[in-house]
Amino acid sequence: MDADKYPPEDGRRRFVKGIVGSAALTGIGTAGATVLNATTTIGGGTGGPTDYVGIENTDGPAPRGMPIIPITIDDDGYLKGVWPEVKQKELDNGETIRITSQQIGEVTYTGRWFQYCGVQTAEGLRPEADQDNFLRSKPGLYEWQSDHEQGQKLHVDDFGDYEEWTNGIGTAGTGKPAQTTWRSQSENGEDVQEMPVQVLRSPKVSDLPENSDHESFLRAATESDFVAWLDKCTHFCCTPGFNASQNASKFDATDAVYCQCHQSVYDPFSPVELSFNAFPRPE
Ligand code: FES
Repeated sequence: MDADKYPPEDGRRRFVKGIVGSAALTGIGTAGATVLNATTTIGGGTGGPTDYVGIENTDGPAPRGMPIIPITIDDDGYLKGVWPEVKQKELDNGETIRITSQQIGEVTYTGRWFQYCGVQTAEGLRPEADQDNFLRSKPGLYEWQSDHEQGQKLHVDDFGDYEEWTNGIGTAGTGKPAQTTWRSQSENGEDVQEMPVQVLRSPKVSDLPENSDHESFLRAATESDFVAWLDKCTHFCCTPGFNASQNASKFDATDAVYCQCHQSVYDPFSPVELSFNAFPRPE
């Protein structure tokens, strides 16, 4: 397991990955197929009712929160999103399909969490897609990323000033966000459909709710004060931003994730359990 060695401990309480979280993430990056018992309830078919953990929608017309992407940091300090384990599921008719499903704490994490707003057709959402899972910089939304090459891997050191950082929107030190893409690298230089992801490093991530039904999941899914989510507004699929728009203050949406399209607001410090009907993958 990538160690929690970034950054050095500073004495403030931080999530410490428990046995459940560490064990749950051991399979990161492995694509070995496991055959599951067809009678087991699995949340990773190609579509349908899906439970997930997301950042809470607190205002505006969005129907629900945006799904969290578990974060890990590799031994060199680069940020990665966790892609659930690839498995085979035998259907009642004898057909076998590939699904993604991984138990993290008390939560079943699957690729279905992201099957909405057209993301279900992204190449990177195929269970076996050959992707390295690094979060890659997408400059444009935040000035601090302007010296990044498009697609460069984000490093924990990029966020070294997160406890003081401000861009003049919201409260200094509330957190440093980045706009990224995930599982969107093409194998042959052709364009692929991007999966937009926001990552936020904030001291408040250490204080995510304890004693919730998904506490073990949150401990495993956050690391060194980082939290990330698929950045697709559940209303009409715009890409919102944490402290990205001056207009956020007009809608009481600073220090929150604000969607400029129709003023939906999400709280990245309030993960909640949600359900929706996932679109099927094209195949
Ligand atoms: S509020 Fe409508 S797309 Fe985000």
